[in-house]
Amino acid sequence: MKTPRFAIAILAAGKGTRLHSKRPKVLHTVAGKPLLQHVIDAALQVVAPQEIFVIVGHQAESVQQAVVHTGVHFVLQAEQRGTGHAVQCLAPAVQGFDDLLVLSGDVPLITAETITKLRDFHLQQKAAMTILTALPENPFGYGRVLRTAPGQAEVQAIVEQKALTAAQQDAREINSGIYAFRTQPLFAEISKLTTSNAHGEYYLTDMAAILHRAGERVVALAADDANQVLGANTIAEMMQLDAAMRRATTERLMAQGVTIFRPETCVIDASVEVGADTVLEPFVQLLGATRIGSGCRIRSYSVIQDSALGDGVLVRNGCVLERATVGDGALLGPYAHLRPESKIGKAAHIGNFVETKSAVIGAGSKANHLTYIGNAEIGAGCNLGAGVITCNYDGVHKHTTKIGDGVFVGSDSTLVAPVTLADGAYVAAGSCITDDVPADALALGRARQVNKPEWARKRRAMQQKK
Ligand code: UD1
Ligand code: CA
Repeated sequence: MKTPRFAIAILAAGKGTRLHSKRPKVLHTVAGKPLLQHVIDAALQVVAPQEIFVIVGHQAESVQQAVVHTGVHFVLQAEQRGTGHAVQCLAPAVQGFDDLLVLSGDVPLITAETITKLRDFHLQQKAAMTILTALPENPFGYGRVLRTAPGQAEVQAIVEQKALTAAQQDAREINSGIYAFRTQPLFAEISKLTTSNAHGEYYLTDMAAILHRAGERVVALAADDANQVLGANTIAEMMQLDAAMRRATTERLMAQGVTIFRPETCVIDASVEVGADTVLEPFVQLLGATRIGSGCRIRSYSVIQDSALGDGVLVRNGCVLERATVGDGALLGPYAHLRPESKIGKAAHIGNFVETKSAVIGAGSKANHLTYIGNAEIGAGCNLGAGVITCNYDGVHKHTTKIGDGVFVGSDSTLVAPVTLADGAYVAAGSCITDDVPADALALGRARQVNKPEWARKRRAMQQKK
């Protein structure tokens, strides 16, 4: 027997009225990723991209642009007339498929494992429709799944919250909005949907009763973990899911040997990796594609985005890193700002109120206080004194400062790019360097000091006479 060909549909055309937001609901983020991206990523683990159909409508273009979707199809639901209507719009696109899994763009915690279980159960039951359900603590707001009798797999109807009769108020089994359908009976019966309900929409949920009445088999499978199928209709619900996902991330990292003090205060994206024996202090944020080695310490209030840190790095309080690379044993902060394309070498020190941008800093080099390093290539073993500035911008173009190995730049010096300081050069404090400095030379770029003997004493004497 050939294996039935499955397509996955993801419903993502709705506006998300309950959010009061200009942004479409499915682009709101939990755990640093748009809701829809979570669902697409789970679907991609189950079927090939060309078997995934995302139904878009409200701000369709921005939704399509905002997600990473190598090869999945987008189908337009120009007017959003309900979840049933969304699936109707799909009919031409999924004709060649035997079965259709329907996922909801606003149910982001669903896993590939649960989708696969639903598919297998659906096939094994030979059902026309299989509903993924759950028994959450608070079922309010969800559609309820009414089985033909307690303990039976078979379902007779799904009733939306607003349509529950007094006797049905206590029904606890909720509809997750995730289903498997056999496409033939689904599209044969879908024209029977009507809009006679509280929202005047075509409800996909009504397919349960329609198929049941048509003598088709409609069954339900309860998810093991109710949390996986929670929907995100309001900001508060999204933040609950966000907290749940982040809790899962901190638990994963702690299980891998990372110490996280007060993990509930840390904001760590699911994509982040951290090595064993690293310590995260309270109120740390690790975002995006960040990778941190082992034996590091990240002190409070540091925000690290899309950056790679080696082993044994100390990030003191209040540092901000974005697209930076940091070598083993480096020391940052407090209050260092590493902007994109900063590459800090092994055991280098980037200290208080130092800002770097498009800068390569060699092993063991130090810029400990109040320095700006932009568009610079700095060798190993250099020392930049307090207040050294690379003047990289002439108002029109950016220019590069090149510094060799073992260079010493005295405090409060400005290096006017383009300029090169060769190996072993020495710049006197307070210099303004506009010309290249040869290897091992001393550069003095400032006026000579003049001392006027007795000047101050004479001035005081004059003032006393007046
Ligand atoms: C839906 C179910 C409800 C279930 C709940 C689970 C219906 C009628 N109700 O309710 O039984 O308990 O999900 O979370 O289906 N969408 C479209 N086109 C539309 C309308 C919606 O693509 O015309 C999309 C939305 O973008 C969303 C999804 O379908 O991703 C669900 O729509 P939503 O309005 O959130 O349904 P619920 O009221 O949550
Ligand atoms: Ca919803």
